[in-house]
Amino acid sequence: MPGDRFYITTAIDYPNSVPHMGHAYEKVVADFYARAARARGRRTHFLIGLDEHGQKIQEAADKAGVSAQAFVDEKAGIFEHLYQLLEVSNDDFIRTSEERHHSFARDLYSKVRDRGDIYKGFYEGDYCISCEKFLTPTELVDGKCPIHDRPTTVIREESYFFRLSKYRDQIRQHIEANPDFIFPDERRNEILSRLDGEVRDLSISRSTFDWGIPLPDDPEHVLYVWFDALSNYYSALLQPNDISADFWPCDCHVIGKDILWFHTVIWPGMLLSAGYELPRQVYVHGFILDKDGRKMAKHLGNVVDPLEVVREYSVDVLRYYFLRSFSSGKDGKFSMADLEERYHSELGNDLGNLVMRVAKLVQTKLGGAVEVGGDNAELADRLPPRQTVERFFRAADAREHNRALEELWEYVRAANVYMNDRAPWRINDPAELAAVLGAGVGALRVIAHLLEPAMPETARRVADTLGFALGPIDDLDGPAIPCQVKVAEPMFPRRESEKKERGGKGGGKSSGDVDPFAKLEIRVGRIESAGDHPDADQLFVLAVDLGEGENRSICAGLREHLKAEDLIGRKVMVLANLKPAVLRGVPSAGMVLASDRSDGAVIPVDPGNAEVGELITVEGIEPAPKKKLSKSNFEKAPLLVANGVVTYRDQPLRSSAGEIRCDAEDGATVR
Ligand code: MSP
Repeated sequence: MPGDRFYITTAIDYPNSVPHMGHAYEKVVADFYARAARARGRRTHFLIGLDEHGQKIQEAADKAGVSAQAFVDEKAGIFEHLYQLLEVSNDDFIRTSEERHHSFARDLYSKVRDRGDIYKGFYEGDYCISCEKFLTPTELVDGKCPIHDRPTTVIREESYFFRLSKYRDQIRQHIEANPDFIFPDERRNEILSRLDGEVRDLSISRSTFDWGIPLPDDPEHVLYVWFDALSNYYSALLQPNDISADFWPCDCHVIGKDILWFHTVIWPGMLLSAGYELPRQVYVHGFILDKDGRKMAKHLGNVVDPLEVVREYSVDVLRYYFLRSFSSGKDGKFSMADLEERYHSELGNDLGNLVMRVAKLVQTKLGGAVEVGGDNAELADRLPPRQTVERFFRAADAREHNRALEELWEYVRAANVYMNDRAPWRINDPAELAAVLGAGVGALRVIAHLLEPAMPETARRVADTLGFALGPIDDLDGPAIPCQVKVAEPMFPRRESEKKERGGKGGGKSSGDVDPFAKLEIRVGRIESAGDHPDADQLFVLAVDLGEGENRSICAGLREHLKAEDLIGRKVMVLANLKPAVLRGVPSAGMVLASDRSDGAVIPVDPGNAEVGELITVEGIEPAPKKKLSKSNFEKAPLLVANGVVTYRDQPLRSSAGEIRCDAEDGATVR
């Protein structure tokens, strides 16, 4: 069981430029964990901020022709604005130029000095201003910093040193004794092997510029920016209210892999020297890479602006993409095609579709009122929440947020399957209907609660539409609650620009970016003959004219519902590219699309006056039918009845004769 409080931090960003994707990614990852902790009722403190001192900032300010303070003040607004927009739920925002930070950093320095761990020396070395650190000759690649691909500057100066070497063994023992101290293992092993080698003392002051915190005992020197910056994790707990006793040691420092050594060796060394407890965990995420596998970085000119993605999609779509697409702790390539694919399939077709159909069914069948939770046996038996909740948080505790979301999506899909199986549009018994739709809304209540750490806005919208409140996870175990369901608005609509992009031929998109509907080849056919299958009671064997010159043989499970003579001469819609199969000895090349109605009837969808052979389309989706479609490919493009029309993601299916109509209830599926 997790403890009752949780303190989580991110790296504090350098505001030498505007924030980019890597900054946004890290804050969203940390936010997921902060929100997940709050959802379980843990008292949570979440800190982010800015690392405002040092040579790099001084140089950027000089270039802009303003004072360093004015420079960082302006940038701070931009960073804070982005993080608010991204719904990063930080409780505090520390800036290292604040006095509350200065006073603790000085204090920490004094404690380390009083411990006898600071001495004056002379340093000469290759300094990377972008990293704000000295590089050893083995770290240089072709005389350049490997991260920034820039030449280093030789710096030779008198400075104060911190006896980091003294703490090497203690740090190594700590890492060995605490397997969770560094996540993931790959990074832990990297540090352990570096700790086998020599650990050099650290130069912790500079005297060639003055944008920093002057040393209390030698104001000609300012504190080295890293010694200064690392102490933010503690300084922020002291003022305005001292909450350090509640929240130190920190439960989780979230950082990128480039600053691993600072957080797992230097910071622990400083804390050991000054007599503070060590943090419980350093969580190390990978880099966001561009499509060529290079780190996204301002100086490489390959950054995608997070705001652009937010404008094109939404905050939650970007958050979801970060959390689901990049494996925890690993590098990942940022791909708009992947984002687009997930937008359609996981968000639109899995989640959006579930919300839409459940809301519509509760409206049409129950007038919008449904009771949820309590001892609904349908929910408990068919979609038991407990297992999913436990797996979700187990993954979150193991810092595997992408796996937590996978668990959640298993549940979303199971809820869609449940709706198909129980087909509430066909149920007329009021008690059964209340139980089944209560289970549908109940499942969405579980989903919204687990979704909140990743997609807070979407979770709120789901809750608002279905009429329940979002609260701690434990609420799910409470008594039944009445819900008043509203009309659902599409949550992940087809985007305007996408309609335009795909309207043109080809669309210039990669194959991963094909909408699931585009892969379907639904054609109008006419049934020329119908006879009983020799070996399967439910099947007809049909000969269907699809305008191909030769009729196709298709087996259709309609015998319980219709007579052969009702079918002959009738126009139907056929999924023409379904992988051919042999059903009990009879070949079948395609599937007749039908919908089930509340009176129990299953009827083929009537394409009206459309021409035989004609392709059925959805506006804005350029057809790109697969040669041989699998059943699971078909299921990825759910077709639903809404207001008497067959729709795909709220858009009508069309032929040249107009919208495809279907005499079945709202929410019924076509399959
Ligand atoms: N100021 C230091 C951190 C001090 S913490 C006491 C710093 N700042 S930074 O602005 O360069 O980076 C802030 C965080 O963003 C770091 O954790 C860094 O790893 C992360 N990222 C910067 N670019 C990144 C990607 N392309 N991808 C993912 N995160 C990366 O380092």
